[in-house]
Amino acid sequence: MNNNTKIKNETTSLGGVPAVGDAYRAWLRYAPLLPDQAKEYAPWCGKIVVASSGTAPLLAPAVEELAAGLGSMLGREPRRGQAADGEGCLVVGTLDSAELQGVADDAEAKALGDEGYVLRTVDEPGRRFIAIAGRTDRGALYGAFHFLRLLQTGRPIADLRIAEKPSGKIRMIDHWDNMDGSIERGYAGESVFFREGRFLEDPEDRKRLRDYARLMAAVGLNAVAINNVNVHEIETKLITPELLPSVAKAADVFREYGIRLYLSINFASPIEIGGLSTADPLDPEVKRWWAERAADAYRHVPDFGGFLVKADSEFRPGPFTYGRDHADGANMLAEALEPYGGIAIWRCFVYDCLQDWRDRTTDRARAAYDHFRPLDGKFRDNVILQIKNGPMDFQVREPVSPLIGGMRHTNQLLELQITQEYTGQQRHLCYLVPQWKEILDFDTHALGEGSTAAKAATGELFGRPLGGFAAVANIGSDLNWTGHLLAQANYYGYGRLTWSPELTSEQITDEWARISFGHDPVVIGTIKRMLLESWSIYESYTSPLGIGWMVNPGHHYGPNVDGYEYSKWGTYHFADSKGIGVDRTVATGTGFAGQYHDVPAARYELPESCPDELLLFFHHVPYRHRLKSGKTVIQHIYDSHFEGTEKAEELVKAWRSLEGKIDEERYESVLDRLQLQAAHAAEWRDVINTYFYRKTGIPDEHDRKIY
Ligand code: GCU
Repeated sequence: MNNNTKIKNETTSLGGVPAVGDAYRAWLRYAPLLPDQAKEYAPWCGKIVVASSGTAPLLAPAVEELAAGLGSMLGREPRRGQAADGEGCLVVGTLDSAELQGVADDAEAKALGDEGYVLRTVDEPGRRFIAIAGRTDRGALYGAFHFLRLLQTGRPIADLRIAEKPSGKIRMIDHWDNMDGSIERGYAGESVFFREGRFLEDPEDRKRLRDYARLMAAVGLNAVAINNVNVHEIETKLITPELLPSVAKAADVFREYGIRLYLSINFASPIEIGGLSTADPLDPEVKRWWAERAADAYRHVPDFGGFLVKADSEFRPGPFTYGRDHADGANMLAEALEPYGGIAIWRCFVYDCLQDWRDRTTDRARAAYDHFRPLDGKFRDNVILQIKNGPMDFQVREPVSPLIGGMRHTNQLLELQITQEYTGQQRHLCYLVPQWKEILDFDTHALGEGSTAAKAATGELFGRPLGGFAAVANIGSDLNWTGHLLAQANYYGYGRLTWSPELTSEQITDEWARISFGHDPVVIGTIKRMLLESWSIYESYTSPLGIGWMVNPGHHYGPNVDGYEYSKWGTYHFADSKGIGVDRTVATGTGFAGQYHDVPAARYELPESCPDELLLFFHHVPYRHRLKSGKTVIQHIYDSHFEGTEKAEELVKAWRSLEGKIDEERYESVLDRLQLQAAHAAEWRDVINTYFYRKTGIPDEHDRKIY
């Protein structure tokens, strides 16, 4: 089977088929509730009162969303009222308003920060309402979405005492969209922003963008970069007066939902569009040029977020050309943005992509740390370094990047990839929340036990002013947004984790399944199991034990064990007839293991303490090396590939058992992809098993068919 295997096409031209239906509505589908549930909620939801003492633009979408959501779930849209009286109602607003006096005390209110909220049932004589309140209107908006989620997931509301605030200040989505409409690593149709070199600005396109902003805000996201980090010719002009009016229109849509817009920029812009002879970050002309671009951007978009930069990475221009370092480059842009409160987000995905496989000393895994760790403390306060979760590149399994928690004096954003570049490209089911949970919970030991990656990213660990999360989007113009319907859960889960990294996979999955499919325990139980097992299933039939990269070069879909083995990209497994894996130890290898703090460094250094699932990432071992599981490496490869393929077939069976229990449209589209996945998993199994059987000559203990 090749990469072009047919799957039913969910792409529709924007503005074609009316964009309705459960697949499109995603986590805002607000399905009608069962009568008993509706009866419980209705007494509180007949009226909405808006309460604020000043201008509060984000209360409008909060009320609109509540009205639409409650109307759809309860069958009756709430009235808008002026004041709460004895009868139950919802009061939505800011805590300083007269209606909401006393709902939270001063200390509680202060603790909410600028984005937090309280949901509180007030049931006293003469005062009967549920408060959905923040210190700011933004908090109230997030509170409204939380309140709706309670109803969508069937939670009680008669005695609410909830107070929440997000863990990370920046909760961002990066789109790798190009202005021709294509999406780098996109698997769900074309861009929802651009087509044929222009912005999509028809009313239907704007409606879709607005619905997208709603989906983002509903899971607490507050920042979006709309163009690819690889900035090509036209996109370089996004920061010019020619295109800024269109950028501003897109920003208007996102602003309505409290989301700030960012642009990826081309570091060589001063030369490519500015008529200068250099892009040297220390050159006064270059500085002035960027200051003017920042001024232009803020003239058009007063709340512009800032610039996202991929520099000196994979052939993108950067400060190295001028003998400058990343701090020089980032600080120059940050200085231009500083007067307006903007930030420069500088990516750490920097490595030598012209390597020779014979050279065992250069290790791509080391690169980000080697480049950036020495610069710790040299970045301005409005610079944030964006660090990919692993040291390589969004593989199905990697250790957490040692740079996360590796810099005390520098703001960080943890970068994840929602789009399934290396994890089945939204043809395969691969629910990534369990993977992200492992990453977020990873203990860096930067300040002793409990120094999790999540705390390092948010800035809590080192008391940094800025921090948070960014992730590459998996959405496009497909009517269901994500191509594979169940991949919606990845987007949803990412948003929820940026708000509360301590949520469990089980909690998030339960929420998403109920919101998307209702409350039939069989349906919910089956879908949850499928999602929660899918990452491990995908891992088991693809590349083994943390080694990664056994994919076809370029598009990265499908098995090809040696696809990258002799290439220049620095992604090797070093399999020969005797052994496999990369020696990244301090004692005999590249020294990468030594980039971690003491506890993880010691754990990874020795094969005895290195977790099985990362063994080949850190060690080169013979095929008969025994894992902690008791199996040899080669037998593990055979077993996991046979089992993974069987489990992929079981996913199809599990889904089939739901026929008739969920709507046909969603049922069929998922079934289609699961069948494709099962067939493709068999291809993975055969390619990988045959390769290693031939290479090692060691037979399978169970004598199964290996080609
Ligand atoms: C990966 C991906 C590229 C992308 C790059 C990045 O290498 O394959 O398409 O540009 O990551 O994150 O910059």
